[in-house]
Amino acid sequence: MSEKQYKDESEMLYQGRVVKGMDFGKPEAMPLFTTAAFTMNSMTEVKNAYANGFTYVRTSNPNREALAQVVSFLEGGEKSLIFSSGMGAISTTLMTLVGPGDHIICNSNIYGETFDVMGKLLRKFGVETELVNFDDMDNVKNAVKPNTKVIYSEVCANPTLNMCDIPAAAKIAHDNGALLMIDNTFTTPIAIKPIQLGADVVINSLTKFMNGHSDSLGGSITSTAEIIDAIHPVRMLTGTPGDPNASYNMFKNFETMYLRVSREQASAAKLAKALEDHPHVSKVNHPSLVSFPQHELATKLFRSNEEMSGMMSFIVPEQEDRFDDFLSRLHFAHYAMTLGTMRTTLVHPCTSSHSHMPDADRRKMGITPGMFRLSTGIENVDDLIEDFYQALKAFD
Ligand SMILES: Cc1ncc(COP(=O)(O)O)c(C=O)c1O
Repeated sequence: MSEKQYKDESEMLYQGRVVKGMDFGKPEAMPLFTTAAFTMNSMTEVKNAYANGFTYVRTSNPNREALAQVVSFLEGGEKSLIFSSGMGAISTTLMTLVGPGDHIICNSNIYGETFDVMGKLLRKFGVETELVNFDDMDNVKNAVKPNTKVIYSEVCANPTLNMCDIPAAAKIAHDNGALLMIDNTFTTPIAIKPIQLGADVVINSLTKFMNGHSDSLGGSITSTAEIIDAIHPVRMLTGTPGDPNASYNMFKNFETMYLRVSREQASAAKLAKALEDHPHVSKVNHPSLVSFPQHELATKLFRSNEEMSGMMSFIVPEQEDRFDDFLSRLHFAHYAMTLGTMRTTLVHPCTSSHSHMPDADRRKMGITPGMFRLSTGIENVDDLIEDFYQALKAFD
């Protein structure tokens, strides 16, 4: 056996062809297994199927398993599970990890529906969640209680890109017998591998950058074999496994992930700088920028400025009567309630993800009515810059 370490982008293609535990040769393209069940002709076959094979689709499926193995490789974790959505992954995992009387510390800068799983669903079952600002890790340390079981954050938060100091959060969690769960959706394992930095559980909404084509819904959890084996039966009971069709589709789209996501992340760094230099843009939030308050942390945790995130947000003048003109002038970027797709997309947080919050609370988080969130696509970055510059003339 060769001990040679290949680059991830090469090795993931190899890993995708040789799916461990699946006895159907090494097809050049992964076949789709839509079957609800696998058939057996003897009790010996039944026992083998329960131990290592495939029985019923909600329990196990080759397309889901193939995708899980690639995610485990990318995240550098022992095992992964594929879910029906990012939210399916988050809710099923938290239901496994906490119970009545337990306490979660959650970054206050978090995807709203993730917080609702904790603040609305888990609360009904006696789980207490405390929202804490992770900009200062002392806040996290001071929030720890004897019953703290999980510390939860995204690598970069929506829409301000505020970062979590993953090694510091991991130390606080582990010093206190808790687990650190990190959402890598905005950044992907191409930019950062939270498990290598101390996280215990990593969630990805595959719906976004990793699938990248806006044509499937899915989520993943990567962790130790022990934790994944505990989540698996809960996934069966909650009925949240990924659909075979979606897993098949995402597996296919994963094969171009490095080409797409590397380009999106590099373009984001260049576009962020260009937007920052535009006189109508008062602020750009992207970890690659020297002006980003946690730029030093970003350069420590990410490999380079070009490998951070395809996401950013920027602030234009609060002249809402000009927004229609600005958006309709854009040739490439368009408004869409998603992110991480191949085409550049925008959203306006104050009227979408953060519309439920009072203006004063949003402003405290740096989310003002002039803010747009941007997800960079694979268009030529110079075309994108030129396009934004001509559209920003709407504020002349
Ligand atoms: C950071 C983050 N995590 C999780 C999710 C949930 O993912 P899904 O829509 O696949 O359920 C989203 C959705 O936008 C997200 O932005």
